[in-house]
Amino acid sequence: MNRCHHHLIAILSMVLAVSLGFVASSALQKSGEEALGTRKYSDYQTPTFCGIQCHNDIYQQWKQAMMSQAYTHHWDEIEYFKLAVPHAEKDPVVAGVKAGCNGCHSPLAFLAGDVPPPLPSKNSRANESVSCELCHTVTGFAGDVPYNFNWISVPGKTKYGARGGTVSPEHNTVRSEFLKTAEFCGTCHNEKSPYGVWVKSTHLEWKDGPYAREGVRCHDCHMTYAPGKSASMGKSYPDVRQHLFHGAHDPGKVQGTIELRVHPDINEAQPGDRVKFTVALFNQKTGHKFPTGSVEDRIVWLHVEAVDARGNVYHLPVDKKGFEGEEYTIAADTLAYQDMGIALGDPGFKGVQRDGVPVGDRIFRMPYFDPQGRMTIQQWNTKSLGVDYRIGPRETKLETCTFRIPDNAPPGPLTVTAVLNYQKLVKPVADFLGVPADESEIIEVNRHSTTINIVD
Ligand code: HEC
Ligand code: HEC
Ligand code: HEC
Ligand code: HEC
Repeated sequence: MNRCHHHLIAILSMVLAVSLGFVASSALQKSGEEALGTRKYSDYQTPTFCGIQCHNDIYQQWKQAMMSQAYTHHWDEIEYFKLAVPHAEKDPVVAGVKAGCNGCHSPLAFLAGDVPPPLPSKNSRANESVSCELCHTVTGFAGDVPYNFNWISVPGKTKYGARGGTVSPEHNTVRSEFLKTAEFCGTCHNEKSPYGVWVKSTHLEWKDGPYAREGVRCHDCHMTYAPGKSASMGKSYPDVRQHLFHGAHDPGKVQGTIELRVHPDINEAQPGDRVKFTVALFNQKTGHKFPTGSVEDRIVWLHVEAVDARGNVYHLPVDKKGFEGEEYTIAADTLAYQDMGIALGDPGFKGVQRDGVPVGDRIFRMPYFDPQGRMTIQQWNTKSLGVDYRIGPRETKLETCTFRIPDNAPPGPLTVTAVLNYQKLVKPVADFLGVPADESEIIEVNRHSTTINIVD
């Protein structure tokens, strides 16, 4: 063989190596549903490994956040194993969710093709939920819109992080602009149902709102920064990203989200008069709508009561506005969620109470409908959405309650109090499915009172 041949072979093998490399890396860059089963658990380190020696502080923050419990948390376990998996086995349209739920809730289990993963009580690696390694191996996302776990994860010696140039004995650190974007969060915080309906759109709501225009990202409210060290042997920084991810499961985060003020149209009234109370609800805190995320589960309602000089209590139902679909935004004594019967093997299931809050109260929600047009908490079984009556970022909604002063009301002060309440899961559903009480505890978002005088 002469030198020239050598040269040619060298070039050919380079071309081969490059094209093989290309094939290999594009095979490894699958995202969304196509990434199912393309990795092994052992391609990724465990959070304990990251946390025990180096990133202790960040590890402890993450441990307390829902990110570390997205697979193991009681309501997640119940909804996945009691409703989603059996439903997926019966209905071909939604068959994909058996694997797909974990694309966001336990991404390593999804990548490893572990479908369905063992129950949380088995302590398998699926329990790592949204782990350090998943987020810190993401290089970008496929397509134009982030949704349905279309992140691209490339595990290995290189970790993607907030800063370049940090030196770690464990891994190479590469600065990632992508991790800093709201689109990164959107890969899991936007979701389309198998019917093509946006059933989660936190990132899209943010993108349409004032915070995106001002450059305030998800991180600025959910991963706030503080001075400290991001690794025990590393340098100190003035602005270490806190891995708090505090949201609906942190009452302190929810409290005060909406400011409430209530005012009357007149200060003095006689029995038999009608007084109109206006409640202004201003969303001062969220970067997206309130409620957002699991909107099918959440319920936010305004309860208004009056107390007269003798201590008699009157409930003031909200005045109707007359918009289309309003009936879903005023609490009623009616049944819903019949489609839970599919998974539970009871196709004739009558449903449970839709709201479980005082009849006549205003509800800030967007109803989800199943293919039969019935209200559902099963976002994967959602074929259409109803009226969007949630409170947008920096939006003020006005509600009125017109109250006829009772004929026998005593003279003296009448105090009217408006209270805004929040529940993560509508209580009748929580009770029916045996979800522990903390998921349906009532969190008071805010309250305000005003007083008028009753004269003879
Ligand atoms: C790999 C998917 C994934 C990515 C990426 C992701 N999240 Fe999440 N996030 C989840 C899941 C799943 C939950 C729900 C946990 C549960 O089951 O309650 C969640 C929950 C949350 C919560 C709510 C916690 C609560 O108390 O209710 C916040 C806030 C949050 N994420 C913020 C973010 C931010 C900010 C980013 C981007 C920096 C982000 N997430 C990126 C999957 C993800
Ligand atoms: C200006 C601050 C702010 C910004 C920006 C912001 N959020 Fe929030 N977020 C909040 C507050 C306050 C709450 C608590 C009230 C609530 O549950 O909506 C919250 C709640 C949440 C929840 C829990 C919602 C629920 O009801 O379960 C999630 C998930 C979440 N945010 C994700 C995000 C993501 C993803 C982004 C970026 C696309 C983002 N947030 C941007 C302030 C913010
Ligand atoms: C949901 C995704 C997500 C998870 C889970 C996650 N991180 Fe992060 N992490 C981020 C993002 C996003 C940033 C950078 C934010 C920025 O700078 O804007 C970050 C930043 C960091 C930093 C640099 C902090 C700084 O400011 O110097 C370290 C170190 C880190 N993460 C370690 C960890 C460890 C360890 C875990 C697990 C215990 C973990 N992360 C879990 C998303 C995540
Ligand atoms: C595209 C990503 C994604 C997919 C797919 C997904 N989820 Fe979620 N899920 C989330 C995020 C993000 C949250 C948190 C939203 C919030 O805090 O309001 C969440 C919240 C939940 C919650 C509420 C947790 C709580 O404690 O309030 C349950 C239960 C749940 N998901 C179950 C499922 C099931 C079952 C499936 C499959 C049918 C599924 N999810 C598919 C991203 C996803």
